[in-house]
Amino acid sequence: MVDSIYRTRSLGVASEGLPDQYADGKAARVWEFYIGQKTSRTENYKNFLCSSLRDKGCKDILDVACGTGVDSILLLEEGFHVKSVDASDKMLKYALRERWRRRQEPAFDNWEIEEANWLTLCDDINKPRGQDGYDAVICLGNSFAHLLDFDGDLANHKLAITNMANLLKPGGVLMIDHRNYDYILDSGKSPAKNIYYNSQYTSDISTSLLYVNGKPNIVTLDYTMDLSELIKQQEQDENWFTANYSLLKNKRFEGPPVNRFRLSYYPHRLDAFKQLLSDSFDGKCHQTVFGDFQPLDSFTYKGDDAPAFYIHIVQKML
Ligand SMILES: C[S@@+](CC[C@H](N)C(=O)[O-])C[C@H]1O[C@@H](n2cnc3c(N)ncnc32)[C@H](O)[C@@H]1O
Repeated sequence: MVDSIYRTRSLGVASEGLPDQYADGKAARVWEFYIGQKTSRTENYKNFLCSSLRDKGCKDILDVACGTGVDSILLLEEGFHVKSVDASDKMLKYALRERWRRRQEPAFDNWEIEEANWLTLCDDINKPRGQDGYDAVICLGNSFAHLLDFDGDLANHKLAITNMANLLKPGGVLMIDHRNYDYILDSGKSPAKNIYYNSQYTSDISTSLLYVNGKPNIVTLDYTMDLSELIKQQEQDENWFTANYSLLKNKRFEGPPVNRFRLSYYPHRLDAFKQLLSDSFDGKCHQTVFGDFQPLDSFTYKGDDAPAFYIHIVQKML
């Protein structure tokens, strides 16, 4: 098995069963800082996400990779009804904390959060009561690529997307994204720009590629985050904590300033991923793809003029 010769996770994260790459809590603890100040992420993100969902008449949203809850919170604040699930309790802990902190707001009081795995999603959660499924399922932030392919047949990938499709009502939409792995595989590095995350605290992301029998199998990203400036600010300015409450959730950042964590991904090529989506919906869907929230023909694909992320919108046929 690939995992025996190539360490896909941070040291200390267990290798039994389906690996929760976030199980040591290291990435979870600094995730809010990695994805950047909320507003700098949400400007692009919010407009695209909310208008795409509203255009399709979606109200009931299932976030299947909610992590610390960034997308779910954004949607709750915009008036959507959200159910949020994730396989990592270390990540969910931060979403649960925020729900508790804002429980006086009806949207947060009604916010459902549960632990669930894409591979057993239909057993782990129910459709909304009295309805034939969710209006939309979202799986964003390059989450789906966390599902690796140790057997070499993508069977797990198909199962996971089929489960998401089954929880959609007819006419419902799946929004799912991945990094531009075509660019990463062809150039050996990740695109310099990143329209999702613009954290001022990320000091390095190094990219490694593993090929198995000549086929790209795993992309491993080693993240280094340096929070020294943040800690200095906290120490110098007593008011800083209050002003940055939402960024810090409800805890002052503690611990060593330099954090390293490792995450591994399956490198989905764009055309293969489109086919995987179509197969998982039995061909009964309409597919659209955007690059960094723009139409794909707005890129020249020369040099660095390529999207960093692809966002797929798949509408289940009525
Ligand atoms: C990159 S984080 C993104 C979280 C959030 N969407 C964001 O953009 O900040 C990926 C999330 O996918 C979750 N995940 C990975 N594999 C999963 C699985 N098989 N089932 C459910 N969640 C999974 C991880 O636990 C993690 O919280």
